[in-house]
Amino acid sequence: MSHGFKNNDFADILFNRRSIRSYDPTVKISREEMLQMLAEATKAPSSVNMQPWRFVIVESDEAKNKLKPLVRTNQLQTETSSAMILIFGDMACYEFGETIYDQALAEGKMPQEVHDHQVATIIPYYQKMSSEQMYTIVQRDSMLAAMQLLLVARGHGYDTNVIGGFENDQLAAAFDLDPTRYVPATIVSIGKAAEAGYDSVRLDPEQVTWFK
Ligand SMILES: Cc1cc2nc3c(=O)[nH]c(=O)nc-3n(C[C@H](O)[C@H](O)[C@H](O)COP(=O)(O)O)c2cc1C
Repeated sequence: MSHGFKNNDFADILFNRRSIRSYDPTVKISREEMLQMLAEATKAPSSVNMQPWRFVIVESDEAKNKLKPLVRTNQLQTETSSAMILIFGDMACYEFGETIYDQALAEGKMPQEVHDHQVATIIPYYQKMSSEQMYTIVQRDSMLAAMQLLLVARGHGYDTNVIGGFENDQLAAAFDLDPTRYVPATIVSIGKAAEAGYDSVRLDPEQVTWFK
């Protein structure tokens, strides 16, 4: 897959990422570039490669006005960003299972016997899973894509803020998704930074690590 990175300096992308909350409101991201960034972000791994992440790109004034009452103190990001990317986990992600494994087979990336085993065992296992277990899986996988999106965005010359402060129970329905199927993971604001952001501290790994 070709990439659209303007900045391919991994150390710069990683160490100079800051949560940015104020953006240049005149900057729009084309649909083509947004899809390219999502293609790159969704190179993230996922449990049995089920890819349960789903995205709603909130970019129009109308959609942003719908989002505003649901994002609490995160108004500035909503008003100034190029887009607010709502990331949901799909509780019925297994519906894409056969499509994914068939594609892997067709592209020579999965042997026939592995394909047949995945279709015969993994998909029914996912179908029968408890909703608590499914919720954990789709949240975990979706957040991996979200994290990757933060870095991919910087590769494209944009900045982001990952947002957890929103009305979890209202987000899906507000954007015409079935809330029993699509569970919010997070929101990522994206755009051209209009501020430098501020540097933040981290605990020393020795404070948060056990070697056994
Ligand atoms: C799951 C999650 C939820 C967050 N929610 C918000 C939020 O609602 N509003 C906000 O301004 N920042 C939010 N942040 C950003 C954090 O405040 C920020 O990542 C942290 O202070 C470290 O700063 P840095 O991202 O610049 O390294 C969130 C971050 C994470 C990981």
